[in-house]
Parts: sequence; C-alpha cells; structure tokens
Amino acid sequence: MKKTIIITGGAGFIGSHVARLFVTKYADYNIINLDALTYAGNLENLRDIESASNYHFEKANILDTAALENIFLKYCPDGIIHLAAESHVDRSILSPLDFVYTNVIGTVNLLNAAKTLWKNNFEGKLFYHVSTDEVYGALGDTGLFTEQTKYDPHSPYSASKAASDHFVRAYHDTYGLPVVLSNCSNNYGPFHFPEKLIPLFINNIINKKPLPVYGDGLYTRDWLFVKDHATAIDLVFHKGKTGGTYNIGGFNEWKNIDLVKLLCKQMDEKLGNAPGTSDVLITYVKDRPGHDRRYAIDATKINKELGWKPSVTFEEGLSQTIDWYLQNEEWLKHVTSGAYQRYYVKMYGG
Ligand code: NAD
Ligand code: TYD
Repeated sequence: MKKTIIITGGAGFIGSHVARLFVTKYADYNIINLDALTYAGNLENLRDIESASNYHFEKANILDTAALENIFLKYCPDGIIHLAAESHVDRSILSPLDFVYTNVIGTVNLLNAAKTLWKNNFEGKLFYHVSTDEVYGALGDTGLFTEQTKYDPHSPYSASKAASDHFVRAYHDTYGLPVVLSNCSNNYGPFHFPEKLIPLFINNIINKKPLPVYGDGLYTRDWLFVKDHATAIDLVFHKGKTGGTYNIGGFNEWKNIDLVKLLCKQMDEKLGNAPGTSDVLITYVKDRPGHDRRYAIDATKINKELGWKPSVTFEEGLSQTIDWYLQNEEWLKHVTSGAYQRYYVKMYGG
C-alpha cells in the first residue's frame, strides 16, 4: 500500500541509512526527511537519493511547532519514523538542556502534531520512536537488557531518551495514538559523525593523533552495523505490534580496548603500516563521568517475532566501515571543520 512517511533526523547518521533504504526499496512511498541540519545533520549523506522523485527534504526544527503543523498539513503523513535527536553522551554532559529541548520537548511536539493531524482516526497510522539501549542503565558482568528491563538512565542523554520513550508510551495509553518503539545498541558504519568512538578513532589514526580511551578501557558495548539497524527499523515499522517495544542489538559485545586494538590492526593492514604502528597512539585519559560499565541487548524478541538478525560479523562490518572512511576523506574533512574543531578542543584539549 502507498504510504507517506516523515522521517525526522534523516540527515543524521542512522536516519540517512533509513531514508536511503525506504526511498530505494519503496518506490511508491513518499519519503519526507524533516531535519534541522544541526552539526550532526548533513545533506551530503543523502547525495545518491536527493533527486529521487519519492524523496523530499524539509528543513525544520522539531521545537518549531508552527513549522511542524505546516509540514504535517502539507504532506498528511501516515507514518512518522522519529530519529531526530541530540545523540552524543559527552555533549549531553556539557549541555544537558539541549537534550531536554530536542529529545523530550521535540518528541512531545511531534506526538502532538501527529495526534492533531490524525484527529483520533488512527486507522493505518503509526508513530515509530527510535530509541537507545542506554535507557536501561548499566549491566554488571553478566545479564542482558530485555524489553522488560527497568529504566535506569545515568547520563543526561539517556535520561532525555528515557523521558521521550515514556511520553511516546503515555500518548499510546492516554490518547490511543498508535506507536511502536525500538531500543538499539551502539551503531557503527558509514556517515557516522567522528565524535563517537569508532569514527573518531579512524579519523585520529588517519591523522596520527592520540586515541583517547576513557578510564581503564574495560567498558563494554554491543555493536551493530548501521545498515542492519535500518533493516530492523523497516521490519518494526511494517510488521511490529502496535504499542510494542523491540530491542535491537548485534549479539556482539566488545570491551572498548579490544575493539580499539582490532581497529588499529585493521587500519594498519589497510594503510600498509607495520603491525603495531597505530597501537602506540592509544592514550588512556580521564574517565567519562557517570560512565555505564556494560551494555548488552537481548534481541530474541525481534529475532523470533520478525525474523530479524544482523547480516554481517563485526570484523566484516568494521572493515567495510574503515574502507568507506578511507574512500571518503573529503566527507571527513567537511564535517570536521569549524564548530567541530572547537568542540574537540573543549573535550580533549589541543
Ligand atoms: P545523529 O546525531 O547522527 O543525527 C541526529 C539528526 O537529528 C541530525 O541529522 C540532526 O540534524 C537532527 N536533529 C537534531 N536536533 C534536531 C531538531 N531539534 N530538529 C530537527 N532535527 C534535529 O544521531 P544518530 O546516531 O543517527 O541517532 C538517531 C536516533 O537513533 C537518535 O534518536 C538516537 O537516540 C538513536 N540511537 C542511536 C544509536 C547510535 O549508536 N548512534 C543507537 C541507538 C539509538
Ligand atoms: P560512544 O561512541 O560515545 O557511544 P556511547 O557513549 O553512546 O556508548 O562511546 C562508546 C564507548 O567508547 C563508551 O564506553 C565511551 C568510550 N569512548 C572512549 O573511550 N573515548 C572516546 O573518545 C569516546 C568518544 C568514547
């Protein structure tokens, strides 16, 4: 069936992969990318689909309720896939209020825009909220986050995402708004802004800069290739149970230091360096405050109910990611100029 879908944050890392998948896979859908183009949003991420007839871009901030009303009236979407967010934990520690505005108030603005447009006629409509596993807090050495795990966020980022998840569920329970949510583990892949661990370290290895490992480096994350997240979002949007939540993860836990050593090894091979060349850049630095020790997702529900599983191993996905960055150094140069330089100096000095 033909659909009109607004994807918020479609110019960001994950959003651009979701927009690309929907525009290319569903030629009869109308896909509207609604994005404010903050430092993290970049239309260069969408060059290959920007002239597709079923793709439209609307520059708007989800804090601007009048703009949202106009865009919702203009396109009359059947579906919203909401990815727009402030997404970086370290920035949330520096400026928590930005995260409250975009992640909490922006989400409520979108819920209101959908509720107003759909006027209680919810047949065929869906508000899909994309969230993170960080809302569940930190695990000890064992155990996994399931959809039943109690929320226990520790960073301003995860607290703001937790609040937004609660509002989405509240709009379902209070107003009957048809919603679905997913909580995903750490993504990596092409178009990832180089402030997050993997792209930052790829960029620093290219530029022979120190690799700042927080604390003892024994923090654990579950990593998922971004294109696998996009296929999961496609499945949840089309086949997920309304009112439901799906945990998405890579079944792929890595301690930061082991990941960094694998990254150094793959980079050295690709750059033709002697083994161990990039390892000397590893520098232990002061820990992140409130740093969650371990995240790990139990993705059994989405696997059993919707048949989803990751398509690549971490070694393959990481290798493809490094190749992409090495072939797209211009993209890296563009996104690491200007404001990013100032952020970098504030975070890491020099
Ligand atoms: P990102 O920071 O790369 O992109 C965010 C996008 O949202 C950008 O294009 C930005 O311009 C846009 N945006 C920000 N504030 C806006 C506003 N006020 N109005 C309109 N647009 C705005 O983020 P990402 O890593 O692609 O994450 C996308 C979503 O997925 C987020 O909701 C995030 O919480 C969630 N998530 C991310 C990860 C991850 O590992 N990156 C994992 C799980 C869930
Ligand atoms: P990050 O990519 O910021 O994702 P998140 O905080 O959402 O999990 O960080 C991943 C892990 O890498 C996390 O444990 C923090 C650590 N890290 C460093 O050790 N050094 C860095 O410079 C960054 C950005 C992250």
